[in-house]
Amino acid sequence: MAMISFQPPLKSFAVPLVPLYNPKSVAVSCSLSLPSRTVVTAVEPAPVFASVKAFAPATVANLGPGFDFLGCAVDGLGDFVSLSVDSNVRPGEVAITNITGNDPNKLSKNPLYNCAGIAAIEVMKMLGIRSVGLSLTLEKGLPLGSGLGSSAASAAAAAIAVNGLFGGKLGVEDLVLAGLKSEEKVSGYHADNVAPAIMGGFILIRNYEPLELIRLRFPVEKELFFVLVSPEFEAPTKKMRAALPAEVGMPHHVWNCSQAGALVAAVLQGDVIGLGKALSSDKIVEPTRVPLIPGMGGVKKAAIAAGAFGCTISGAGPTAVAVTDNKERGKEIGESMVMAFMREGNLKAVASVKRLDRVGARLIGSTPIDRV
Ligand code: HSE
Repeated sequence: MAMISFQPPLKSFAVPLVPLYNPKSVAVSCSLSLPSRTVVTAVEPAPVFASVKAFAPATVANLGPGFDFLGCAVDGLGDFVSLSVDSNVRPGEVAITNITGNDPNKLSKNPLYNCAGIAAIEVMKMLGIRSVGLSLTLEKGLPLGSGLGSSAASAAAAAIAVNGLFGGKLGVEDLVLAGLKSEEKVSGYHADNVAPAIMGGFILIRNYEPLELIRLRFPVEKELFFVLVSPEFEAPTKKMRAALPAEVGMPHHVWNCSQAGALVAAVLQGDVIGLGKALSSDKIVEPTRVPLIPGMGGVKKAAIAAGAFGCTISGAGPTAVAVTDNKERGKEIGESMVMAFMREGNLKAVASVKRLDRVGARLIGSTPIDRV
């Protein structure tokens, strides 16, 4: 059988720092001492607000066969970042002053080791900020390690906040690159959470070097609901990536490519049944991860039996995601999936039914300079 090799192959759970399919082909640590991108502004911009508040949504990465290259944003769940010009912070630096919400004590306040901090620093570097210090507070609406793009939401909100505070000079691609720097450090070099968290909707990552993003517009008149069922179980992305196969057989490669193509077509056509069918079809990544999430196999069966058009693992898990075109049906599907997690995996779980977030990360508040 012809084999396709990922470079570099993963060896074991003991080598968590080597991300699968890192286009740079080396174990990369996030070097914050070097700019990852040429400074894009010739003159250092001045802040246009004294403070801003930003929100970034949860995301569903992979969408079945789209491992590391497809993702979408979901409405109503996410993280918040508040950012202020602070004369007590050394110019050119950011200080994280407070973290609230889900699991705040598990997150570092050192900006070099915090998703929001890393992304904020990257955007400051891109803008060439040297004269202003910033203080940042992070409100975690998303649980950590849930498969809903928690780290990406923090990074996206921080990137949007810094850019917004200085007048929005950077485009989305730069902001995604800043978010990628953060993802690289905490979970692996993949943009399928951070790109939709920043841009909203469905995003296809066509290329990483250079970054090429394609927005896939789901028709506004069509109904699409995501049933998200999160069990009380942590599935760290690094660990879930370390479990992936180093090689893929040609038949599975052909199958997954055709399903990913079908998924893109279904999104563009607003074909929720086709989207669900493709979402359910991954033969490469999902089968290696299902055994690591207690009950996941039974949860998928329960979702389909309850009328979902398709079901898979959201991102690296443990959240399961199913799709439907009817909100009430979505609630019933969610109840069946919650029961299946308990029955098959002995895990408590919570369900929610969400629409697509078409906006992505945004500023939700600002204080003018002259009011402070
Ligand atoms: N594509 C990534 C993975 C998403 O599945 O590892 C992580 O949320």
